[in-house]
Amino acid sequence: MNKDKIYTESLANIANFNFDAQVADVFTDMIERSVPGYRAIITMIETLTEHYAQPNSNLYDLGCSLGAATLSMSRGLKAKGCQIIAIDNSAAMVERCRKATERNHTFEGVRVVEGDIVTTEIANASVVILNFTLQFIPLNERLPLLKKIYAGMRPGGVLILSEKVLFEDEHLNKLLAHIHHDFKRAHGYSDLEVSQKRSALDKVLIPETIPTHRKRLTEAGFSSTDVWFQCFNFMSMLAVK
Ligand SMILES: C[S@@+](CC[C@H](N)C(=O)[O-])C[C@H]1O[C@@H](n2cnc3c(N)ncnc32)[C@H](O)[C@@H]1O
Repeated sequence: MNKDKIYTESLANIANFNFDAQVADVFTDMIERSVPGYRAIITMIETLTEHYAQPNSNLYDLGCSLGAATLSMSRGLKAKGCQIIAIDNSAAMVERCRKATERNHTFEGVRVVEGDIVTTEIANASVVILNFTLQFIPLNERLPLLKKIYAGMRPGGVLILSEKVLFEDEHLNKLLAHIHHDFKRAHGYSDLEVSQKRSALDKVLIPETIPTHRKRLTEAGFSSTDVWFQCFNFMSMLAVK
């Protein structure tokens, strides 16, 4: 695994964060050292897929990056006649995700697509994953995207939505931001790396509160929604159609 050293040196100008080849090359190390609970969520996607995948349906990984959730879905999939569709709009991620899924012989029905999840059709879906992707979608496009996902799902299907979150209480917000900073330091990032990465993400990753997510999921049509996993200011929700 390549080590993330992107923000180790002091940068004169910090460009907006972008999922380019430089990021794709170190992404596994970056996300594991930056997102508390990421590995647990990826592992549990296997169990959730086994439970929710319906025969002859589609499973989507939206914003698949290198395909960690795609591979986890493929390991958990027991229903017959299914296809997994992994979508990302970063060419660098798609190229690496294709290689990773081609090396995986547990399940061969994976299609990796370079495309925008906002405009891609979702159809006949029993499992849909947005694993730390919705936070990168412009705010005004989030509800239309969730409505489209809901419309393309089968009854009984599940959306797994993982996000960095804000808290309504300002004291808790500051505390959790601090704890997250400590988590990154404990995983080898310097204060300079943390602060430069935070500046790069500032206008690109827009977190929201759990009540905001819950309200939007209900507005999109989902009947049962709740948090099934949380670690500090990172959480994952289930939304069932
Ligand atoms: C934080 S990463 C997701 C991590 C990944 N789901 C995982 O579990 O390892 C966000 C991904 O979403 C992709 N992305 C952002 N906006 C997108 C869009 N509109 N359409 C497709 N992919 C998008 C980025 O290229 C990036 O690979």
